[in-house]
Amino acid sequence: MKCLAIPALLAATARAFFTSPPDGHPNYTIGDELVLEWELDNPPAATFVLTLRAENLTAYAYIPGPFGSQIGLYDLRDVVLEEALPLANGSYTWKVEPSGGDATFIGPEVYYYLRGDWKVTGTPYSSGASTDYFHLVN
Ligand SMILES: *[C@@H]1O[C@H](CO)[C@@H](O)[C@H](O)[C@H]1NC(C)=O
Ligand SMILES: *[C@@H]1O[C@H](CO)[C@@H](O)[C@H](O)[C@H]1NC(C)=O
Ligand SMILES: *[C@@H]1O[C@H](CO)[C@@H](O)[C@H](O)[C@H]1NC(C)=O
Repeated sequence: MKCLAIPALLAATARAFFTSPPDGHPNYTIGDELVLEWELDNPPAATFVLTLRAENLTAYAYIPGPFGSQIGLYDLRDVVLEEALPLANGSYTWKVEPSGGDATFIGPEVYYYLRGDWKVTGTPYSSGASTDYFHLVN
């Protein structure tokens, strides 16, 4: 039972982790300050890795998949913003900028979100959580 309890707890905490920015796919202007906030009653680790994820949802190519299907290839550009952000901080202000500083990688086709990943103290588990996606505009 103890083994089952840990992942269940993580699943619950992961969903509730980020309390801002709000859902609803807002557009953030480059140079804005996006305040990321999180909250956990029982912090599962001391620090977490904060990654900015960006994906162009229009495939740039297709390759043949099984049974005659086509598999889309997508431009994914992740950037680690913080290697060890203290969970105890509870918030982080990110000055909005396109992934890798590429000012063309913005607009409605490109889905951005922020992701936190941590190793759960005293267990072999890793866990994480993401914000809802948002877009960058000029
Ligand atoms: C974001 O901007 C696009 C135009 O680039 C617009 O169509 C969309 O409604 C905007 N989204 C929000 C949530 O304001
Ligand atoms: C997204 O990918 C499509 C297909 O490669 C490309 O035409 C488009 O310019 C890309 N958009 C951005 C914002 O990079
Ligand atoms: C975390 O909080 C400490 C204490 O307020 C602050 O010095 C530090 O810069 C914060 N770290 C980040 C990455 O925001």
